[in-house]
Amino acid sequence: MSNDPLLQPYQLKHLTLRNRIIVTAHEPAYPQDGLPKERYRAYTVERAKGGVAMTMTAGSAAVSKDSPPVFNNLLAYKDEIVPWIREMTDAVHEEGAAIMIQLTHLGRRTRWDKGEWLPVVAPSHHREASHRAFPKKIEDWDIERIIKDFADAAERMKAGGMDGVELEAYGHLIDQFASPLTNELDGPYGGSLDNRMRFCFDVLKAIRARVGDDFILGVRYTADECLPGGTGKEEGLEISKRLKQSGLIDYLNVIRGHIDTDAGLTDVIPIQGMANSPHLDFAGEIRAATNFPTFHAAKIPDVATARHAIASGKVDMVGMTRAHMTDPHIVRKIIEKREEDIRPCVGANYCLDRIYQGGAAYCIHNAATGRELTMPHSIAKADRRKKVVIIGAGPAGLEAARVAGERGHEVVVFEAANDPGGQIRLTAQSERRREMISIIDWRMIQCEKLGVTFHFNSWAEADTVQAENPDVVIIATGGLPHTEVLSKGNELVVSAWDIISGDVKPGTNVLIFDDAGDHAGLQAAEFIAKAGGKVEIMTPDRSFAPEVMAMNLVPYMRSLQKLDVTFTVTYRLEAVEKSGNELVAHVGSDYGGIAKQRTFDQIVINHGTIPLDDLYFELKPASSNLGEVLHDQLIAGRPQTAWRNADGKFQLFRIGDAVAARNTHAAIYDALRLVKDI
Ligand SMILES: Cc1cc2nc3c(=O)[nH]c(=O)nc-3n(C[C@H](O)[C@H](O)[C@H](O)COP(=O)(O)O)c2cc1C
Ligand code: SF4
Repeated sequence: MSNDPLLQPYQLKHLTLRNRIIVTAHEPAYPQDGLPKERYRAYTVERAKGGVAMTMTAGSAAVSKDSPPVFNNLLAYKDEIVPWIREMTDAVHEEGAAIMIQLTHLGRRTRWDKGEWLPVVAPSHHREASHRAFPKKIEDWDIERIIKDFADAAERMKAGGMDGVELEAYGHLIDQFASPLTNELDGPYGGSLDNRMRFCFDVLKAIRARVGDDFILGVRYTADECLPGGTGKEEGLEISKRLKQSGLIDYLNVIRGHIDTDAGLTDVIPIQGMANSPHLDFAGEIRAATNFPTFHAAKIPDVATARHAIASGKVDMVGMTRAHMTDPHIVRKIIEKREEDIRPCVGANYCLDRIYQGGAAYCIHNAATGRELTMPHSIAKADRRKKVVIIGAGPAGLEAARVAGERGHEVVVFEAANDPGGQIRLTAQSERRREMISIIDWRMIQCEKLGVTFHFNSWAEADTVQAENPDVVIIATGGLPHTEVLSKGNELVVSAWDIISGDVKPGTNVLIFDDAGDHAGLQAAEFIAKAGGKVEIMTPDRSFAPEVMAMNLVPYMRSLQKLDVTFTVTYRLEAVEKSGNELVAHVGSDYGGIAKQRTFDQIVINHGTIPLDDLYFELKPASSNLGEVLHDQLIAGRPQTAWRNADGKFQLFRIGDAVAARNTHAAIYDALRLVKDI
């Protein structure tokens, strides 16, 4: 038996957990009709197969109809959920993992124009900044109904074979009762701590009465809202003790912070560039004060920190939630002593930011996550070894090289630069995006193990490629900044990448025209403003940086607002002229009727990239498929059989930004989807 603290079993009442690593509640927005169907099951079971001790399915599964999900959550109020839950729990148990589900009523943290268009309820009329609904002040009959809904939902989950349920009590209805900031009720549910906690205990009692003792019950709650006038640490400790003393629950799952704003949410679930494990010591204090089973998750992305969390006795079970979205097989790799093979979570938060935009959660650099029904986490060997030549060692090229290597092919990569990484190497120049480089480093380690040959500093020509006698050629050359977007003066501007790479010195009075709305514009702004320049970011969009998304925007705003960067939306830079040492910006608007002139000493354009595709078009006539990708085969996961040129000696494909400017996930998905069938 291993003496690794992470691999020690844990006895949670009657439930034996096989190790100390859990996946905490997270709704990846994969339900269909609010039910955990095949896709949901496949995603969940993959993590159980990977060895995790317990997976908390869902996040915020809705117990009532007036708690409509704002993204695609499970609907625990539907009776028809039970057989779907049963199929999932059976499959997870077969893999040796425990499975629970988080239930909630969102209270004001939703919208009235979702689901059945019912009024949103909360213990006050205060609106939550993130979701914007003005709530109805909850009435006695609402309270009775919702308590019963919780008990009904818990009973359904027990009937479906769950090992237990967890209540969400941070930022949702239960906590809206508990916090003095959101509870303005008189009478039994408002005022004193006893009264504010009454709803939570009424719910717990009703559930316990329904499910009995042999069912795990836990609460995930904020023990310090970190808000003036809110639940502070002292009251949080008192709440922790009362939860334990109630005898109704089996563990505490500690959160510190508040989630009513994007900024608050991002401090609770920190992203890349923010400190690791910021609330672990706090969770440790709760455990020490209560001497009760304590769970916790918040940016503990690596095994070493997780091991410390357990070994130091700060928590009993450590959550590695996003880490499991990046690599579902963490525990298996720990057991096999292959920790260096664990694909690292880089905190990019593409997963979470997407769900808040109404999309499904995808991991920025594991395209198989959430696509378990079609994309493999473990790549199968090919029947025949081929020679695969890849041009470009950015994320697309390296993923292609890794997957081709796993297939057992002979793989040769040509890269013009000294180092691998492409645009990721550039983006990682910003301190806040430094973690992105692990996307490259992990692939290089894998490629090295797989015997991939790299030629750096090598500008591959068509002859170089053909001299390799390849069976397959993959062009992953990426793109170059696209700045030629003005009617006049394109030669007077620089690109965001010029600034980020350090190739161009920042100006002192700078306009950034951001038409791409991605990280590069904000990164350039930060470089310039930190160097002392005055910066205005202008975009023709209704909001700025839409591709950066909510939580990723938080650290930028914290920095850029302090640096006095200004943000101008709905205006378009149309042309630039030189006037002495100054640049005159001609500004219009897509809404029409505007023609302004402004002066700057530097104008930066962020407008994505244009494909670097010369080599592709040079090789195209010599290929057997003339570059064609048969989409039906690609989507169905079948090998490509396009045959357009009888004289062609190799198949030719193009992936990532070499096709069109997209993002890292798209580049990696292009590569995995194509190469897994080569
Ligand atoms: C896609 C996604 C959805 C989430 N939804 C919930 C949720 O509904 N309820 C909840 O308590 N936590 C939710 N979380 C937060 C996680 O449980 C966890 O606290 C957070 O990801 C920090 O842990 P980590 O750094 O190990 O990922 C979600 C996380 C992700 C990535
Ligand atoms: S998208 Fe980023 S934060 Fe989310 S799981 Fe993947 S690497 Fe981690």
